[in-house]
Amino acid sequence: MSRRKVEFVETVLRDAHQSLMGTRLSYDDFKDSLELLDDAGYKALECWGGATFDACIRYLDEDPWERLRLIKSKLKNTKTQMLLRGQNLLGYKNYPDDVVRKFVELSIKNGIDVVRVFDALNDTRNLETSIKTVKEFGAEAQIAIAYTQSPVHSIDYYLDLTKDIIDMGADSIAIKDMSGILTPYDSYELVRRIKKFTDLDVEIHSHCTTGMAEMTYLKAIEAGVNIVDTAISPFSSGTSQPATEAIHFLLKEQGIESGLNVEVLEELADFYGKIKNKYLENGLMPTKVLGTNPKGLIYQVPGGMLSNLYLQLQGLNKLDLFEKVMEEIPKVRKDLGYPPLVTPMSQMVGTQSLFNIVTGQRYKMVPNEIKDYIKGKYGKSPVKIDEDFVRSIIGDANDIIVDRPANHLKDSYQEFKEEAKDFAKSEEDVLTYIMFPEEGKKFLLNRDK
Ligand code: CO
Repeated sequence: MSRRKVEFVETVLRDAHQSLMGTRLSYDDFKDSLELLDDAGYKALECWGGATFDACIRYLDEDPWERLRLIKSKLKNTKTQMLLRGQNLLGYKNYPDDVVRKFVELSIKNGIDVVRVFDALNDTRNLETSIKTVKEFGAEAQIAIAYTQSPVHSIDYYLDLTKDIIDMGADSIAIKDMSGILTPYDSYELVRRIKKFTDLDVEIHSHCTTGMAEMTYLKAIEAGVNIVDTAISPFSSGTSQPATEAIHFLLKEQGIESGLNVEVLEELADFYGKIKNKYLENGLMPTKVLGTNPKGLIYQVPGGMLSNLYLQLQGLNKLDLFEKVMEEIPKVRKDLGYPPLVTPMSQMVGTQSLFNIVTGQRYKMVPNEIKDYIKGKYGKSPVKIDEDFVRSIIGDANDIIVDRPANHLKDSYQEFKEEAKDFAKSEEDVLTYIMFPEEGKKFLLNRDK
């Protein structure tokens, strides 16, 4: 019998620097490590999607498509992987189907091998178009379940969801724990029970934010997980992933293969150690993100959401209301049918909770995003929202969307293409403009000067 193998996806080019330093690694920073990354023995390099696209045009003055093509051209053994928010693509709102199709098609044509798709509400209808397109263009469709905790988000809830995404044609399954709140024993239970009904690979993705992730990975490995998301040591821990090297040695002790070459990992650690020092010195990597913050476990909300609220209250000179806002969050979440606290829902629930406390009257002020959510424009809430509450927020006249939200968006790629005809030189450029109309246009105009 062949030895068991657990494969690795390295996150240093996407989630790790997104989590630790606002996604500011430039291509020049990491280009000399691409050969090493390719030789290390990873299954894939997570290197695109999420905030990388945004940061490229906003701060780094890099064409995100060109960045992807350059990365791809240096890899002979290792797949490229991206993160996609389903119908939201890289943004915070739903795009029409033709835009989603074009974006997925061109991501794959420019070099993406594995597309990890998820929806913030775990509404699988928001995954349909992207999954279909990923498969049509021959890439691996990995579907992620967005992990959260609430009275309805039980292990059974996630098992049902996993069955649904398998039916949709997932090639592999990811458990995506954005805020490091998946506990070791829950991860064991979840992975063990998923592996009972499917042979598909299961991948675990967590963050060290609360101090749990290494233990959570260990228990997931014991339960039969196939792939782990890790970051090379200098870019690991804190709000990032567990260290690649540590998980490798853990497996080695158990006689499980990792496929990784330790000497290459050492060279990579040297390389990224120098980069880390540079960004610690210039302040782009704040030391705050490198520590452990168990507040996520105490309040059951992501760390990033806590620090946002803290800053907002500080700005209003109302820090004394912090605990009250914390107590309000679970109530707002319940009113809204327990949305997972992932972007963009985490910001929306946070803002509503803040408004409820600061104005001294619940739902006196309601942001438009919350109204749209209640109208079903983001998708289905995990639990049906109380009808009286719905009407108290949006009144009687508004129609509520109950089918797939994108059914109500008309195709608009051609319209954008026409709008961008003076500064977009390719279909990729058109998509850059669609994703970020203002910054994208500015970037494209500057690029060609
Ligand atoms: Co992550």
